[in-house]
Amino acid sequence: MRRGEFLDPHLVTVYDAECPWGRDDDFFLSVANESPRARVLDLGCGTGRLTLALAAAGHTVTGVDPARASLDAARAKPAADRVTWIEGTSRVLPDRAFDVAVLTSHVAQEIRADDKWARTLADLRRALVPDGRLAFDSRDPAARRWERWNPRDSRRRLALPDGRVVDAWTEVTEVRDGLVSFVHHYVFPDADELLSSGTLRFRTEEELRASLAAAGFTVDRIHGGWGGEPVGTSADGEFVVLARAQD
Ligand SMILES: C[S@@+](CC[C@H](N)C(=O)[O-])C[C@H]1O[C@@H](n2cnc3c(N)ncnc32)[C@H](O)[C@@H]1O
Repeated sequence: MRRGEFLDPHLVTVYDAECPWGRDDDFFLSVANESPRARVLDLGCGTGRLTLALAAAGHTVTGVDPARASLDAARAKPAADRVTWIEGTSRVLPDRAFDVAVLTSHVAQEIRADDKWARTLADLRRALVPDGRLAFDSRDPAARRWERWNPRDSRRRLALPDGRVVDAWTEVTEVRDGLVSFVHHYVFPDADELLSSGTLRFRTEEELRASLAAAGFTVDRIHGGWGGEPVGTSADGEFVVLARAQD
């Protein structure tokens, strides 16, 4: 099994086909645009879909990600030279350098251990200017979205830029202690199958609020979906968190 869709160049291509621009990107772009010409950090920028749009909107953008294959794909995209790309995690961030920080497409859930999440938030607090804004998404465990990650409900067809069509599905392998492990299957036209496994942390709203307070953030709002719905009322099943670095 090849692990980690963000580390394997083949799977990075599949990721881009699977994750086109969405309502979440519209939301995070509009959050950044509340501060015109801001210094924006995209932590866990992946292949740079939103990162590049933030730069095109006039912001000064830094994209940080530990996955080299994803960053290589981002750097190869049009106008990539407008963004500062850094391979690494929050540890590499400079002090008081950003007005806005975003972690999108559930990067927060990739950071599974409590101590690592606390460290990430502390680094973000340090990297933001006082009153700087933090926005991120994390799936609401009460929505139990992983129950649809089964071979029937998750089956999908992905069209790659080179014309190939990939059949894909996902299956959950374990649900335990707020962690959900899964495997994505990708079957290429020549019958070659790539597997990509992962584990995501599903934090409760209380856990998110406690971790943000401990790191020195004030929560402005937590929405339940991309239309600004209250938590628990949207089919999106999200926590969309908007917080602010305390002075
Ligand atoms: C689902 S992808 C989202 C990528 C991008 N934000 C997007 O919207 O397409 C999750 C990303 O989180 C990155 N990641 C994993 N652990 C991380 C960490 N500790 N700090 C920053 N990014 C991390 C992965 O490498 C991956 O690129």
